[in-house]
Amino acid sequence: MRNILHKIETFFQERYERDISIYAESFLDTTINERVVATASKTADDYLALLESNKDEASLLLDSLTNAYSEFFRNPLTFALLEQFILPKLTNENSKLPSGEIRVWSAGCSAGQEPYSLAMLTDHFKTTHLINSRFRIFATDISTKQIEIARQGFYDVKTLQNTRMSFIKKYFEENKNGFLLHDGIKKQVDFSLFDLLNNGSSAPPASIFGDFDLIMCSNVLFYYRPEIRKMILSKFHRSLKSDGFFITGEAEVSVVKSFGKFRQFASPAPIFTKS
Ligand SMILES: C[S@@+](CC[C@H](N)C(=O)[O-])C[C@H]1O[C@@H](n2cnc3c(N)ncnc32)[C@H](O)[C@@H]1O
Repeated sequence: MRNILHKIETFFQERYERDISIYAESFLDTTINERVVATASKTADDYLALLESNKDEASLLLDSLTNAYSEFFRNPLTFALLEQFILPKLTNENSKLPSGEIRVWSAGCSAGQEPYSLAMLTDHFKTTHLINSRFRIFATDISTKQIEIARQGFYDVKTLQNTRMSFIKKYFEENKNGFLLHDGIKKQVDFSLFDLLNNGSSAPPASIFGDFDLIMCSNVLFYYRPEIRKMILSKFHRSLKSDGFFITGEAEVSVVKSFGKFRQFASPAPIFTKS
């Protein structure tokens, strides 16, 4: 597979100027194997021949490499710890600051499920604890399509399976096709396009200077090669306040641990502080 993988990487680089070697080898292997099966190619070499002759297959493979699956409150343990430990800590410390602003970045936010989960949780927390702190939530993704869907805020019931019934009732309007998020929550998230692989900047330009209290990037690092993961994690490390929190996906704990500059806050949850 190593040899054919190299040939497919070279093909995309030469024909489409697309560098697919940024993705983790195991992820590329699985995705290519799925396409080999789906196209009924007899061997991986046959599949390469198909890619060379069929533009549509090349774009199908590229699409399969960009997974945008997400859910509201995707990792329930993470959101429970956010509510019980992290929000009390951030709001307590923040109340001493004159700005009264808590800065959050959801990186690789897909269609908004993650930053909107944060917005609902912080709204609920502020109401129940009678707190005035202002949360500024920046949410970024590389995909124009996902950012457009996020701004519309209209979702299928399946993405809400982990969401409290009280939140669904309070923050969504149900119609026969799905659930529309209320403007009050939509307004709390500032969406923009931002490529985490962009060499120019560590934080989204919309946030002006980074300096986040909380950065959440889950189910993104997993797809990239070790050098790329390290480059992205260095950006988060630079953009996070010294006492800030970094949250990732359940499958990415070992990636963050091996980076070496974050300390796990509450094992086994994928929550870290700067070490
Ligand atoms: C699998 S989804 C995860 C969404 C959400 N974070 C979650 O955990 O449910 C991965 C998202 O990361 C985005 N993404 C992948 N590479 C990116 C990059 N280089 N810069 C910004 N976003 C990226 C994809 O477009 C996709 O929307």
